[in-house]
Amino acid sequence: MELKTLIDENKLNQRIKELADEINNDFTCDEPVIAICILKGAVMFYAELMKHLKMPVKMEFVRLSSYGNSKTSSGKVSALNISLPPLENQKVLVVEDIVDTGLTLNFLLNYIKEKGQAKEVKLVTLFDKKCARKYNVHPDYCAFDVDNKFIVGFGLDNQEFYRNIPYIGYIE
Ligand code: IMP
Repeated sequence: MELKTLIDENKLNQRIKELADEINNDFTCDEPVIAICILKGAVMFYAELMKHLKMPVKMEFVRLSSYGNSKTSSGKVSALNISLPPLENQKVLVVEDIVDTGLTLNFLLNYIKEKGQAKEVKLVTLFDKKCARKYNVHPDYCAFDVDNKFIVGFGLDNQEFYRNIPYIGYIE
């Protein structure tokens, strides 16, 4: 299948550095943050973003899935691995690859709430597909808005392929 480039590697990395600068400005540099990566899709974005954060960071990973092998949301989240340390009174940064209907983030935010009162929970996403939103979820930081295209690369997949591609492409 032929991929068209939507965002090249340089532009991605430059924009991620800008997002990290925004986050560094908003968070105090000596207060620890628990940064939660939503696997698998956010893996590349997370790794790049983490390199530029200036505050002490604890890295945590959850594995959630709402798409399965299809190109649209199944409407149900599978929590394949969601073990997290206590978040009571902690600053939390949730890192997502793309917010589509908002189901996945809504699920994780409710789970975080149930785990006790975090001091602050912020959301950062590489892409926001606002036109597809069904849940009341608003990222605090977003690198790029995207229209109703199905995009792949840089962690994002189509049936588990393309995640390793270093740029964002789309299938026509
Ligand atoms: P939501 O739960 O509907 O917001 O969907 C979020 C998840 O769906 C993301 O973490 C991705 O795994 C997947 N997803 C949504 N749109 C795309 C896309 O354009 N390409 C690849 N995966 C996508």
